[in-house]
Amino acid sequence: MSPHPASPSFHVTRTLAEDATEAALRADVLHGLTGTPKTLPPKWFYDARGSELFERITTLPEYYPTRAEREILLARAPEIAAATGARTLVELGSGSSDKTRHLLDALPQLSAYVPVDVSESALRGAARTLLADYPALDLHALVADFTRELTLPATPGPRLVVFLGGTIGNLLPDERSAFLAAVRAMLSPGDFLLLGTDLVKDEAELVAAYDDASGVTAAFNKNVLSVMNRELHADFDPGAFEHVALWDARAEWIEMRLRSVRDQVVKIPAVDLVVDLAAGEEIRTEVSAKFRRTGVERELRSAGLELTHWWTDAAGRFGLSVSTVSG
Ligand code: SAH
Ligand code: AVI
Repeated sequence: MSPHPASPSFHVTRTLAEDATEAALRADVLHGLTGTPKTLPPKWFYDARGSELFERITTLPEYYPTRAEREILLARAPEIAAATGARTLVELGSGSSDKTRHLLDALPQLSAYVPVDVSESALRGAARTLLADYPALDLHALVADFTRELTLPATPGPRLVVFLGGTIGNLLPDERSAFLAAVRAMLSPGDFLLLGTDLVKDEAELVAAYDDASGVTAAFNKNVLSVMNRELHADFDPGAFEHVALWDARAEWIEMRLRSVRDQVVKIPAVDLVVDLAAGEEIRTEVSAKFRRTGVERELRSAGLELTHWWTDAAGRFGLSVSTVSG
């Protein structure tokens, strides 16, 4: 026996080269801020500070989704383990991987964990703490955009792809169907998808979750301006914007926006853009769609996936489903 047991280690693979990330940000900003209405994709919230702010959001009294999903995972992890027999867990948008621990604890046969996230700081933080508690796990972190083609490491099946937190709701309907089709293509017969979906509920409860009294969600929303200032040398003044969260009852989604508090001109030299914003004009920074079971089942079926299990928390606020390749 070696006197010094090998120290646990993990691989981090960056499929997003720094310059490709910058080019993608430039393209999104150019497209989003020259369109009507002005929009920005929510994935740009998540630099190191954005990831930290998101973690603070998950502890807010108003932000119920994390607690509701954790309640389901705690209750159902043994059933998920029995139904899937997963040996590889691939997690999309894994963030801190904190709730994932309930799955890791319930899956003794698991050999590999592949967290995928655009936030390298979140991935490294998660990998460090997970390795201390699960030293035998083959941990292969991927810094990647889950809406792009993913090259997964060769690890044993069955594979369980998990997408928690309700993050699927941050994709627009077209992006969502393309995303589910790509997930279906990632799965072989006998593999599974575990999907967390926040559910339609009372408007006041929804809006409070996205407009908390302590202003953490407002800071998270404005963080995208700091990302553009740093990465694109823009001169956004976060103080010249206010955080807006509203419920769109027709689309059944929450929208987060940044509203200009005055007429202003913002320069974004890296994309050679000057943006005129009138007082009261808004930039949409995120949609967070809320679901019903029938809609989840329908969208999965359209992607070639069949829902096999559906659970909610006791208060019926959040849904967690297992699905598998149909036919
Ligand atoms: N799954 C965790 C984190 C949710 S926050 C939870 O349930 O608490 C959303 C996570 O998805 C963040 O860590 C963010 O960095 C990541 N993310 C957002 N858009 C992404 C994209 N297009 N590709 C990869 N990761 C993305
Ligand atoms: C990551 N995602 C599911 C969160 C949500 O609830 O849509 C992001 C978030 N936006 C504001 N608060 C949290």
